[in-house]
Formats: sequence, C-alpha cells, structure tokens
Amino acid sequence: MSKVLVTSALPYANGPIHLGHIAGAYLPADLYTRYQRLQGRQVIHIGGTDEHGVAITIRADLEGKHPREIVDYYYGEIKRAFDALRIDFDNFSRTSLPLHHKQAQAFFLRLYEKGHVYRKDTEQLYCPKCRRFLPDRYVVGTCPYCGYEQARGDQCEKCGRWLEPVQLVNPRCALCGSTPELRSTFHYFFKLSAFNEPLRRWLESKEHWKPNVRRLALEWIREGLRDRAITRDLEWGVPVPLPEAEGKVLYVWFDAPIGYISSTIEWAQKQGRPDLWKEYWLDPDTKLVHFIGKDNIVFHALIWPAMLMAHGDYILPTDIPANEFLNLMGDKFSTSRNYAVWVHDLTRRFPVDMIRFGIARILPEKKDADFDPRTFQTMVNTELVNNYGNFVNRTLSFVERYLGGKAPRVGSDPDPEVRRTLEEAHREVTEYLETYEFRKALMRILALSDVANAYFDRGEPWRTRKTDPAAAQRTLAHCLWYVKALSILMAPFTPESSEQIWRHLGLDRPGWKDGLDPTLPEGLQIQGVRPPFRKIQDRETEELILEIRSRAQQAGISAPQEPEKTEEKPMETVKFEEFKRLDIRVGTIRAAEPVPGADRLLKLQVDLGEGDLRTLVAGIKTAYAPEELVGRQIVVLANLEPRKIRGIVSQGMLLAAVEDGTPVLLRPDRPVKEGTPVS
Ligand code: 2FM
Ligand code: ZN
Repeated sequence: MSKVLVTSALPYANGPIHLGHIAGAYLPADLYTRYQRLQGRQVIHIGGTDEHGVAITIRADLEGKHPREIVDYYYGEIKRAFDALRIDFDNFSRTSLPLHHKQAQAFFLRLYEKGHVYRKDTEQLYCPKCRRFLPDRYVVGTCPYCGYEQARGDQCEKCGRWLEPVQLVNPRCALCGSTPELRSTFHYFFKLSAFNEPLRRWLESKEHWKPNVRRLALEWIREGLRDRAITRDLEWGVPVPLPEAEGKVLYVWFDAPIGYISSTIEWAQKQGRPDLWKEYWLDPDTKLVHFIGKDNIVFHALIWPAMLMAHGDYILPTDIPANEFLNLMGDKFSTSRNYAVWVHDLTRRFPVDMIRFGIARILPEKKDADFDPRTFQTMVNTELVNNYGNFVNRTLSFVERYLGGKAPRVGSDPDPEVRRTLEEAHREVTEYLETYEFRKALMRILALSDVANAYFDRGEPWRTRKTDPAAAQRTLAHCLWYVKALSILMAPFTPESSEQIWRHLGLDRPGWKDGLDPTLPEGLQIQGVRPPFRKIQDRETEELILEIRSRAQQAGISAPQEPEKTEEKPMETVKFEEFKRLDIRVGTIRAAEPVPGADRLLKLQVDLGEGDLRTLVAGIKTAYAPEELVGRQIVVLANLEPRKIRGIVSQGMLLAAVEDGTPVLLRPDRPVKEGTPVS
C-alpha cells in the first residue's frame, strides 16, 4: 500500500500561532492528511516545534529569559492551538529533545565524513559594543539582491533569498544598532555548490510542482549556489559534534528539517515499533510531502534536498506545495509587533469548523490572500450555514419530523441523475485534493450542495408527503444520500460536523468512496437533529474588527480599511402625493422555486387578486425554503418598473425587514383579500 509522509513546517517556539501560519502550512497539511486517511492510505502527519536559532535567542534576550523557558512555554501554547483547531499530528515533537540532537549530529558527521562538509576560516560580523558575533537575525541591513532595507542576516523577507550577514549592505547590530566589524573565526561549510547540477536536474523533473515553488528554486539555481556555513557561534542549539568545535552549534536551518526525521523516529518509538520510521524515510515508494509557507521555499526546495542527496540514505521530497501569504485586513501578520489574529483567541470566539471553513475558503494557494472578519462572516453565513448546513438540517429534520425518524431507502433503482451528479463531483473534488487545490475542492463541494438543495426543492416533499407519500420517501432517500456524500467530502474541512452527521446516519468512520453508495444501516432512526452550524452575528464581527484595529494602532500600522460607513445624512422627507404613487398591496404566494444557478434568489408566483398573478424574483433564498412560502401572504410594491433578473422578468418587489442582512418577510396581521392596498 502506498505510504504518505506529510510534514508541516516546524514553527519556531518563539510566539503563538496565528491565522497566517494556519493558512500557510498547517490547515492544508491537515486537510491533505485527513483526505489521505479517508482514502484508506497509510499516512502520517509529522510535526513539532523548531526550538533553536536566533529567532528563539532574540526573544529570550528581549524578555530577559533563558531560551529554555521560552521554548518550553511556547511549545505548550502551540500544541494547544493546533489541538483546539483539530490540526492533528501523529507526532508533534521538539528539536530540543536529545533524540533530535543525536540525529542532527549524526547527519552532520555523515556529511563531514563524506567530504560534503569542510572547515574553513572565515570573517564574520562582530559587534564591538555587545562584544559578540552577530549571526543571522542579530544583523539587519540592505538585501544585496533586491535592495530591501530591513533584510535580516539570514534571509530577505522580501525576495526570499537565503543570505549571510556579511552579504548585507550597510549592516547594523539588531541589539544595539551599532555598525559591526569583521572578525576572524572558523566555521563548517556545506558544499552546496556541488549540488547545483543534481538539484537542477531534480527540479526540472518536478513538472507537477506548483509553479511558484519550482520557478523560484530554479531561478536561484541559475544564479548559482555557493557553499554556506552551517555552524554558528552561539550557545543555544545542537552542539557541533567535533572536539575542536567547542562553543559552536549547528545552524538552525541545518538542524530543523532533520527534525522531520527525528519526529518520525519518536513516533515509531511511541508506537512500540522503533523501526517503523524506516518504512517511510528509507522506502523510495513513500510520498514525502512538505507543507510550508513561501518564506521556507529556499530551504525545502534547495538546501534540504541537497542535504538529503549528500547524506544518501533518505528519500527526497515528492512535493512541496508552498502557499503564498495570508494578510490581515490589508497588512502583513507580525508576531513581533503583535499584529495578528491568534488561534487561541479565535477558538474562544467561534466553533472550530467555522474557523477551518473560513480559512480553507481563502487559502493563499496561488496568490496572497486577506483575512477580513466581514468576508469571513459572509462566507460562513451564506455558504457554510445557509447552503450546506441548511441542506443537511432540512433533510435530517424532515425525516425526523414527518417520517417518524425512519430513514427511507433509495432501493434498487437509484435516480441515475443523482448518481451521475455525485460521481462527477466526487471525481473533481478528488482531483483537486490530489493536487493540493483545497480551495477549489471546497468550492466544488459547495456547488454540489447547491444542487442538493435544488433537488429537495424540486421534489417538494412538504407537498408530496400528503399527496404522494412514496414520492416524498424517494426524494428524502436521495437527499439522505446527498447528505452522506457531502458529509464525507466535507470531512477534511469540517470534521466536527461530519462526525455529528455520521452519528445521525449511523456511519462509523466511512471511507472516501462511501459517499457514492446510498446504503445506510438497516432500520436507521434519525433523532435529536440540530443544525450543524450557527451563524456569525454582526456583533461578533464588529468586536473582532475593533480588536484588530486596536492591535494595528499599537503596532504603528496605518489603520486597516474602515468598514463602509453608512452615510449619516438627515432623513429626507417625501410628499404625501409622492407616497401615494406607490402601489403597495397584499398578495398570496402561490408557487415558489429556486432560480437555477443563483444562491440567493427565489422565483415566486404571487396572486394580487382578480386574476393578477405576478412573477417576482426575490433575494430571500438564504432565509426561506420555497416550501414554507406557498400559501403565505406578503406585502408587494406592485408598480415598480419591471426588471429582468437572471433572465426572468420580475413584476414588482416584495417588502421585507432586513435584519443583519437577513430578510424577514412582512405579512398582514390577519389574512386579507388578495390585492388589498397598503396605505
Ligand atoms: O519559518 C519557520 O517558522 C521555521 N521554523 C520553519 C522550519 S521548517 C523545518 F525545516 F523544520
Ligand atoms: Zn531581497
């Protein structure tokens, strides 16, 4: 059986996890793992915290703490955030563990012994005021490639290149701001230059990779890779395992990816099968997939594969589906400036599935995306709640209420149209997930849910249950099939609600393809149905926006875009004669059906008395099911100029109160004759 080894970038244990991290690597990795598991494949998701390097020591310096205190604290925070969001890891390790130190040291020695690592005297930046060498982020300056003035000594945030402190133009000590000087020391260098060609050939063969990743990596290869120092003069890190290298540690980007291997070893040990990790890392049939954000591309697509090639025992990455960045209301997330939406904060406010849906819906797969609480609210309320959630709820509630909870069966001649629809959707969603296009997969599932809603509407079970009960049973049986299929397709995205739906349907851990089969357990009784999701209230959105704004202010970021203000103009008056020109009347809805392809529209036949039957197109589908409308009285503006909406001429407008964007229909206090004027 094919094996899949999924990793997600080991986050630095120097701060909590925010939505930008989640959208970059962790949610996609979790979606992919859940999908692979549903497919029945042997898959593990391996992770942990990156606990070395200057990202940690700078934080410790700032807080006047030992790096150990920092990493211990944030390991716990980070682990809890992932648990709360149901980002599941088969093992979540730490690079400060002795097991990892041993692995990283053995890896280093192997490269040293094979001649891929050599010692060299070198000049490094030294701060005379702080009296120390300034590795990596201890220096800032101008990027020699793109001119970005705030480039760090290890990497330019703007162009993504891997830098060395001595390359920076106009370097400054990040601690005290003084200009550093050059001092002699020695370091161990990795012969990266020797891997230019093997890497180029390897990358060229990766035609299926995301273009952003492959293009960047090949561009850097064309510029030519240079040998690089992989040790540092620091106290915190994995000690270099050579007697003459006292006081030196491995460069964090040398030890961190080895953490993927150490974490897998730890996982195998915890399983009581210590050699199990070898079935993954030593077997060329394993599919190794690294989920990362775009700032990690250079390390995963060049340095790490070169390290693996140099080592020789382990497999190379099969895929590196790096995402672009997620911004926050137009500005970059920043842990150091506290401009972020933290996971632990969001999980206190909203249910997990809601957050996962909202992020999956805007994943920055091809280009940067933006998190804005208003868009989050709209997407959750219209797509998750009103479309998918509503379909599940109306189907299950109908069975509970009108069929005594007894689930009808599709029987031996399933509707071929439903089968075809499900097969097509299943095939396309699968293709998207296989190619890491999670956002498209989700959109495709929502489109299927739209079709399912229309199927319910067309079947009119609220009517047929009285006129033709067998037809109502058949409609509901197929709707249950849709619910089953949808809940399986949605399971990677919204696992909690899928599990709730499976409990209703009596399904125990269904497989990916089970949605194509309408079968439900014999004698299934559906009861205790509740809507799977709730809506986000305006108040919640406003609170979140206020919070983000105040963080922006504290971080010195220009205020994120203001929400559109409703102009506070004094209320205009109208003359009574003008009002009299409006022909407002009471009508009775005789028929209601969805407008094909429109999320919000219903087509209504409204009886205004004396044979005046009007067609109205109204944006109320998100709030009302067609079946609840027939026979209901409404208030209509009858002399509004006719308008063509989606190819249908609407001959008037119904009146509704609009509460938080949701239409609430008006009706007379008691039934009146059709056509009665309102004045
Ligand atoms: O960018 C980061 O947060 C790094 N700590 C990612 C490391 S990924 C891997 F190589 F461990
Ligand atoms: Zn740059």
